[in-house]
Amino acid sequence: MFDFVGVLVLIVLAAVFGFLATRAWRLKNGLLRWGATALGGLLTLAPLALLALALVGFYKLNQHYRNPVADVQVAGTAAQIARGEQLAHVCAGCHSPDGGPVLSGVNFLAKFPFPPVGTFYAPNLTPSGDIQDWTDGEVIRAIREGVHQDGRALLIMPAGNLRNLSDDDVQAVVAYLRAQPATGGPTPENRWNVLGAIFMSLFDFRTAQSPVGQVTAPQPGTPEYGHYLVSIIGCADCHGDQLQGKVDNGQPGPPAGPNLTQIVPGWTEAQFMTFFNTGRRPDGSAVPDETLNDGTQRPRMPWDEVRGATSDADLHDLYSYLHSLPPVASPAP
Ligand code: HEC
Ligand code: HEC
Repeated sequence: MFDFVGVLVLIVLAAVFGFLATRAWRLKNGLLRWGATALGGLLTLAPLALLALALVGFYKLNQHYRNPVADVQVAGTAAQIARGEQLAHVCAGCHSPDGGPVLSGVNFLAKFPFPPVGTFYAPNLTPSGDIQDWTDGEVIRAIREGVHQDGRALLIMPAGNLRNLSDDDVQAVVAYLRAQPATGGPTPENRWNVLGAIFMSLFDFRTAQSPVGQVTAPQPGTPEYGHYLVSIIGCADCHGDQLQGKVDNGQPGPPAGPNLTQIVPGWTEAQFMTFFNTGRRPDGSAVPDETLNDGTQRPRMPWDEVRGATSDADLHDLYSYLHSLPPVASPAP
């Protein structure tokens, strides 16, 4: 993708101000000449600097990954579809317009406080979306490696977490995607304009594109399986790499969660279950809501999504993993 018009505007701005700066140099009045030339020079350099950033951004946006595509055909058994529907709760926060299980696509830019960087949807993943024409292997590569069918990186799509999905679980997700009711048409193609390219060069929105080999899930009923669920759901995105908590830095992005290594070991398993069933902590306080740009509300801690994605046995494993963690010091505010 490339924004010819936006890049042209920057070039024209640089040329016009460059021309004006050379004219200013011919002024008679010495003070005026120096002042006007310096201003013209600065106004020429600014669009040139933005142009350089934009070109780096477009380079990153168009970078291609040749990760191999697995030759798999997902069987689509009833058991796979049911497991996939459960895991789809992990996708719903971004791909579902109402947080429900049908992943028919969302205008991502309208939801979050982004500047006008172009067109950016979390695409429609039902059978009437674009991926109807993708092979199962290409969809699996998109989910676990964050690579589009055409080879470019998928931005913001959390492949860094989803790469941990086992072969069985990622196939179950694909079985569910294919089994959803076809809902709506394909979402608009994602395109970034010159402003988006500048942002892309400053904050890289790629997640993780390296190839994933075979992945087997740990045995359910163990703390290791709890760790597996933590890695897929991405608790660390909000609670920090070691779940030691994050400090709110005021930047856009997921909300900062508290230190789980110090909190959960003090909870009983029943209190942990109540938290995920009701969003209420042991002291009875509820998780507050946050309001998104498009007016929708959601709890700051997505306890309902986690609950949707887990069985009681899964929550037990999550608890035993978190309960077993040695306490880590919280980051300084
Ligand atoms: C944090 C938000 C987020 C979550 C969670 C998320 N995705 Fe995405 N996903 C995106 C965005 C945004 C894109 C588009 C990226 C782009 O085009 O650069 C995307 C793209 C995709 C694509 C490529 C589709 C296409 O038509 O280009 C697939 C497939 C996909 N996601 C599957 C999933 C599945 C399955 C899950 C859950 C297991 C999931 N995603 C979870 C944000 C998310
Ligand atoms: C999108 C960000 C996000 C994700 C993902 C997330 N959390 Fe949270 N979590 C929060 C925030 C923010 C809070 C604090 C909510 C509040 O303000 O009361 C929180 C609070 C909690 C609490 C209550 C702690 C307390 O005393 O306030 C627990 C337990 C918890 N999270 C566990 C988890 C687990 C386990 C996962 C992964 C399965 C997870 N969280 C994923 C953001 C997140």
